Amino acid sequence: MSEVVIMPKLGFNMDEGKLVQWYKNEGDAVKKGENFFSIETDKTNIDIEATTDGIVRKLLISAGDKVPVTLPIAIIADGNENIDKALADALAQLGQDASSVASTAAPAAVDATSAATAPAEFPAPAPSIAYDYDILVIGGGPGGYVAAIKAGQMGKKTALVEKETLGGTCLNVGCIPTKTLLRSAEALHEVRECAKYGVTGIDGGKAGLDLKKVQERKKAVVTQLVSGVRGLMKKNKVTVLEGEGVMLDAHTVTVNGKSVTAANIIIATGSQPKMLPIPISAKMPVITSTEALDLTVAPKSIAVIGGGVIGMEFAWLFAQIGAKVTVIEFLDRILPMVDAEITTQVTKQMRDFGMTIYTGAKVTEITATGVRFECEGKPQEVAADQVLMAVGRGPRLDGIDAEKLGLKTDRGSIVTNERLQTSLPGVYAIGDVNGKAMLAHTASMEGAIAVENICGHNRTIDYDKIPSAIYIQPEIASVGLTEEQAKAKHGKVAVGRFPMMANGKAKVAGEERGLVKVIVEPKYGEILGVHMYCIHATDMIAEAVVAMQLEGTAEEMAMAVHPHPTVSEVLHEAMHAVHGSAIHA
Ligand code: NAI
Repeated sequence: MSEVVIMPKLGFNMDEGKLVQWYKNEGDAVKKGENFFSIETDKTNIDIEATTDGIVRKLLISAGDKVPVTLPIAIIADGNENIDKALADALAQLGQDASSVASTAAPAAVDATSAATAPAEFPAPAPSIAYDYDILVIGGGPGGYVAAIKAGQMGKKTALVEKETLGGTCLNVGCIPTKTLLRSAEALHEVRECAKYGVTGIDGGKAGLDLKKVQERKKAVVTQLVSGVRGLMKKNKVTVLEGEGVMLDAHTVTVNGKSVTAANIIIATGSQPKMLPIPISAKMPVITSTEALDLTVAPKSIAVIGGGVIGMEFAWLFAQIGAKVTVIEFLDRILPMVDAEITTQVTKQMRDFGMTIYTGAKVTEITATGVRFECEGKPQEVAADQVLMAVGRGPRLDGIDAEKLGLKTDRGSIVTNERLQTSLPGVYAIGDVNGKAMLAHTASMEGAIAVENICGHNRTIDYDKIPSAIYIQPEIASVGLTEEQAKAKHGKVAVGRFPMMANGKAKVAGEERGLVKVIVEPKYGEILGVHMYCIHATDMIAEAVVAMQLEGTAEEMAMAVHPHPTVSEVLHEAMHAVHGSAIHA
């Protein structure tokens, strides 16, 4: 397929680039990865590689020419492809017309009316007319607001529509408030244990949490972060339109009854908690994570339906503040997405802490006094004052009538390709609404990638290298395949493990529970997965992500010096353990 090569943007402050040299002439064959041209930036000359195989059909600028970033400079295609059409599509997507292509070389004639060259299910956008904005983002969560900032940075006239509060689920009713509450629970735990560290003058046994104060702190943290996002919108010249965006077509959205148009739309409308379709007594307070975040009185007892990420983070929080917690999970283990060896340890530690956990349990009814379910073929019931429903989240399409718009969906999620394009030309979908990986950091990366693609780059996201983080104590973090998944995919795998109890810093910290485990492909040493259940796991997982992104091997990571004394030495030791050479095992 043809590729229109653009002047790359190699830094935040780079607005234009100067072509130093073409390494290929028109008519030459070029291979992906070969040096194609070199450009001069304010710092140095940089060689740029071709990103596809093909024939250099057109060079649109000459050595010495300076052109704005993202402007087309060459076309690589097969010998018989219609490059005029490819250039027209690229210019339309960039919101440019043919005259914007550098005049120093005769650009290909542009026929903006011909049919799209992209695959039929993900066609290229229609040629642009005069729109109010280059990019309009619907939804201001970590996907949408990051996309808007990126668009502003790339010089696009951008608007963001938000009907509630900037920051979306993550900042307002998700990651940040949950972690703020969990931080209070962690502080409580430390005070209770303080005598162990020689602290005197505090009766840890009497310690408790004032939930009203905890809520005030949560509100202050959230307010500061939301106002930070508002400031970033202003700094990046993003127009914020307050109200619900209702999509009329691929270029038109109404906000508060007023119509707004854009060359490209990015849908970032997020997700909402799912509810089980079972009989629910009106007398039982059934809450989701959203309401659980606002509790000012600890429940005496709570039944948590669903032992996934949300279920277990709240189960842990409620157990810390003295509630009698029962977790009811449908599958045969809690945290089914986590490596099974770690789940086994977590389950034991949660039970040791006093939590009751049922697995393989099918909930049938929520009564006025508790939850009924079937487990091991027998009907059972647990009593509870409250019920937390944590059985997953589903895409939220407020203001988006997918069927009417002709937007392809799969089980409610908007279908996107690897470039985040939807089935509607010029429309992208990022974050929870595309259902790929419901995590804030995935949404943010997808937002940036969608904008770069709108600006003419060719970026994709590698969903296999997205880390996940679970905030119980100790923390859980992982990236890549579990041992079970790796075996299913690769057959034989090598596994390196290292227990926390052999780590000096963990001992010093008084938190020696857990392990770090790495899964490696045995022939080439490629790291397939890293799983941590330990203190600081959620911060340390980034090292494993970077190693995997750079295609590092276990051997290379074992050769990288890790500072002492730190918990990060456990990852180092686990990499050594792959070859049976851990030092402190
Ligand atoms: P989840 O998909 O993580 O877990 C839902 C759990 O409910 C699963 O274990 C599932 O087997 C169970 N379940 C489903 N139907 C059931 C039934 N009828 N009876 C009993 N159990 C049932 O979804 P969760 O925990 O609601 O989280 C939603 C999303 O938010 C996830 O994608 C998660 O990754 C994300 N999230 C991430 C956080 C983090 O990274 N720390 C924190 C909170 C949410």
